Amino acid sequence: MTKNISKIGLAVLISGRGSNLQSLIDACASDDFPAEIKLVICNIPGVYGIERAEKAGIPVAVIPHKEFPSRETFEQAMLDEIAKYPVDLVCQAGFMRIVTPTFIEPWRGRLINIHPSLLPKFKGLHTHERAIEAGETEAGCTIHYVNEGVDEGEIILQKSVPILPGDTPDALAARVLEKEHIAYPEAVQILAKNILEKQ
Ligand code: GAR
Repeated sequence: MTKNISKIGLAVLISGRGSNLQSLIDACASDDFPAEIKLVICNIPGVYGIERAEKAGIPVAVIPHKEFPSRETFEQAMLDEIAKYPVDLVCQAGFMRIVTPTFIEPWRGRLINIHPSLLPKFKGLHTHERAIEAGETEAGCTIHYVNEGVDEGEIILQKSVPILPGDTPDALAARVLEKEHIAYPEAVQILAKNILEKQ
């Protein structure tokens, strides 16, 4: 853990295009934002999020889960990588792997995720399609702590958007994504302040 500094260290876990990673990179570029990204871990080789991290000069570890015999050995490789850096908070940002207690336990209370629905509604995949099909009038995103349940940990922050008549899943996803990019830095800021106050 870092001590007596005005910024906490983040590890950001991604699996894809990394637009939420970008929102954190952009927020961290500001001097008064209380966090900096020490490391990006990506489980899928070749995705655009890797390029975003490299462009920002952030160390990237590509750890392909498919090369490991089990979830636990994959997660141990991520833990070993994170241990090389002064990380205070681990942020899953479009990280499309379910994690087990191997990863959760050492980071409990310091491991968060962004999910594209207003939890507890629409856990799992295809959230926008399911929200439209269910006749919901509101959708949104949730930042929550990660625990052993899928998309079940304590909620830190939510932002909502309207579902409009004739919305397609893609149109709704784009509207929600705009809010995600505001919500994730906001949540990190809140948690960073808490962590820094305790140091
Ligand atoms: C985001 O919409 C994020 O909320 C979602 O994947 C997308 C990743 O986009 N995450 C999940 O569905 C996790 N269950 P990004 O790679 O551009 O940040």
